[in-house]
Amino acid sequence: MITLHTVSDLRAAVKAARLSGKSIGFVPTMGNLHAGHISLVDQAKKECDFVVASIFVNPLQFNDKSDLSRYPRTLPDDQVRLTAANCDLLFAPDVDEMYPVGQDNQSTVSVPGVSTGLCGGSRPGHFDGVATVVTKLFNQVLPDRAFFGEKDFQQVAVIRKMVEDLCQPVAIVTVPTARDHDGLALSSRNGYLTTEERALAPGLYLTLTEIGASVQAGEPVSQVLSDATERLNQRGFRTDYLEIRDARTLSEDLSDTSELVILGAAFLGKARLIDNIVVTLKRRND
Ligand code: PAJ
Repeated sequence: MITLHTVSDLRAAVKAARLSGKSIGFVPTMGNLHAGHISLVDQAKKECDFVVASIFVNPLQFNDKSDLSRYPRTLPDDQVRLTAANCDLLFAPDVDEMYPVGQDNQSTVSVPGVSTGLCGGSRPGHFDGVATVVTKLFNQVLPDRAFFGEKDFQQVAVIRKMVEDLCQPVAIVTVPTARDHDGLALSSRNGYLTTEERALAPGLYLTLTEIGASVQAGEPVSQVLSDATERLNQRGFRTDYLEIRDARTLSEDLSDTSELVILGAAFLGKARLIDNIVVTLKRRND
């Protein structure tokens, strides 16, 4: 695997791959790679001839600057993991390479509707930062397909709408959430957990699955969510949000929905963890 740091080197390498007839897959990340990220690379390798991963801790999407400064940067380890996964090219630009005109003077992409509420509500400006950097990366890599994790469910909805609204010529492929043996969704932020917090951390996924079972059983949504919030807090978390949305549209209107997504975000010590599960409602008279 080659590692490149500039847009011009990246463009030359991808162009050469394309000229030799290869399809291009792209996996954008912020590094500190774990098995969840690698599952995206594995899927990209299955579907594309030449796979580019990027590692860029994007300042534009961090509303909390202390979160940005402590975000783990582990490039040498990440290179080892990507090489083992047969990734072809790693693009690892620095901030000046990505934002040569400065972050405040950068044209931005904003995706209405799906960016609001949930993580967009708790992290103002976050999805503008994601949409802007992903657009830039798409324009730099020019991939045929780009791979995203279902763990960041709202992020996928934002990217899909952005690609459709702006006619970006890339197919978006999603990959299921990779979990630890006890159900905890893998995340770079799990590294912030103490041993005691790590033992409590599966409580978020557990709470989401309990919400799913209660909703399947026909219990009223608002009661289910308020009971679940109380339980999640008793499990040691500070709940940011627990919500149920239409899995296809992210709409809060569930009146005509058979596929629900249950989304949660909660603080455990210094870490803010997010997770979600999709639940298909059984038809009442089955
Ligand atoms: P990052 O958090 O590094 O995640 C990169 C990709 O890995 C995202 O598509 C994310 O959904 C996926 N991912 C993370 N944990 C996963 C898990 N447990 N199972 C499956 N996939 C998982 O998401 C970002 O970076 C950034 O916002 C980015 C899109 C790179 C833009 O800066």
